[in-house]
Amino acid sequence: MARSQTRYICQSCGQVHPRWVGKCDGCGAWNTLAEEVSEKAGPKATGGKGGRHLSFVELSGAPEFEPRRPTGIAELDRVLGGGIVPGSAILVGGDPGIGKSTLLLQAAARLSEDRRIAYISGEEAVDQIRMRAIRLGVEKSRVALAASTNVRDIVASLDHGEAPEVAIIDSIQTMYVDTLESAPGTVGQVRAASQELIRLAKRKGTALILVGHVTKDGMIAGPKVLEHMVDTVLHFEGERGHQFRILRSIKNRYGPTDEIGVFEMTETGLGEVANPSALFLADRSQDVSGAAVFAGMEGTRPVLVEVQALVAPSPLGTPRRTVVGWDTGRLAMTLAVLEARAGLSLGGYDVFLNVAGGFRIQEPAADLAVAAALVSAVSGTPCPSNAVVFGELGLSGEIRAVSQTEARLKEAAKLGFDRALIPRVQSQSKNRKKIPAAGLGLDEMGTIGDLFDLFPDAHQAARHGDRRERA
Ligand code: TYD
Ligand code: MG
Repeated sequence: MARSQTRYICQSCGQVHPRWVGKCDGCGAWNTLAEEVSEKAGPKATGGKGGRHLSFVELSGAPEFEPRRPTGIAELDRVLGGGIVPGSAILVGGDPGIGKSTLLLQAAARLSEDRRIAYISGEEAVDQIRMRAIRLGVEKSRVALAASTNVRDIVASLDHGEAPEVAIIDSIQTMYVDTLESAPGTVGQVRAASQELIRLAKRKGTALILVGHVTKDGMIAGPKVLEHMVDTVLHFEGERGHQFRILRSIKNRYGPTDEIGVFEMTETGLGEVANPSALFLADRSQDVSGAAVFAGMEGTRPVLVEVQALVAPSPLGTPRRTVVGWDTGRLAMTLAVLEARAGLSLGGYDVFLNVAGGFRIQEPAADLAVAAALVSAVSGTPCPSNAVVFGELGLSGEIRAVSQTEARLKEAAKLGFDRALIPRVQSQSKNRKKIPAAGLGLDEMGTIGDLFDLFPDAHQAARHGDRRERA
């Protein structure tokens, strides 16, 4: 007979503990354990009798490719790798209030034009969703709507008759399986609810879209376990104060993971932003020291953003290093290279680095743009306002080549730039002939020292600042 058993499960990593402890053995997080009651398992799976024999097949068989279903929202389709794969499970994570429900309701409305869509909300009442639909101008679309949190009811409804092609569950943290005693949102519940829903989706060929909330530290609440269970994980992110939102693919069994979709939150829902560079550079102030335009790539799409640096003599023993939108470790490395290889010491300065517009850069190709912004800030000389910058910085001070030079330069030319600071090796590669095609004047940099040709006063200004500080 099944026996119920109390266990304590870390809500962060899913580690199971037989008794309560303050600190999880698995991930080291404090105070993350929650009590969950489970039915004890029956006979052990290993060494047991009665398992079915698997029929192994050849690796070389012809795979069945399921056609993708484009959602009609180009920015969403790009991130999904072309559209929704039938029977797949997609997790859309993001901070509360970022716009997940808005995006999915808009997608549902588009999809409902030629297929059956179910939208099940555990967070809002039907009337609230209708009100949002009116605001978005999609109230006439044929989305099947329900408000429920009980997985048993949801599975029964989706299983009954013809299943919808896409089912949206908003959100997985509100769903509960009534055979478990723990509260909705706990790891056990999230895992069990997802398992039930995913199993149904695979059986029926329904694509399942789960909404997941993100905790303070950016994890999808409850669980890494959930990320393992689904085929695709998308992150919807953005700064509260800014109107644009970025949809990023973290994991995708059916598509690329480096593509982004860019949206703008407006009064009437999320609008697609086909040309993000223009948006990110819209508020650029020209001829101010400490700013450099980085020509970046997000997947296959070039994105130009402004990197801003502020350098000020520090009153503190340990000067501040504050970074928004880039990696703190990479800033430390860039500062160290500037000091060790170019003799520019910023040890007595507070350094603030910001990627304008709330964008987050992940490419090392931004190193040279960051270095240019820093040196420009110290020297008080603006970077050439008609120039874009990219290149990776090596520890010996060399500027290293980065990928997709041509795409970066073309985008810069399209936006009216006519000059680029790029790695020297780049122009010596076999792509040499292609580069001038973009029509930009190229400043080629072999080492970090070459940057100082543009800012001849930087060293003196830095020394001057240090002296002023000591005086
Ligand atoms: P929502 O989709 O409810 O976020 P989530 O599901 O991720 O919690 O979006 C909520 C925010 O979006 C809310 O602060 C209001 C804003 N919003 C608009 O600016 N315009 C709109 O058309 C809609 C529907 C929402
Ligand atoms: Mg919501």
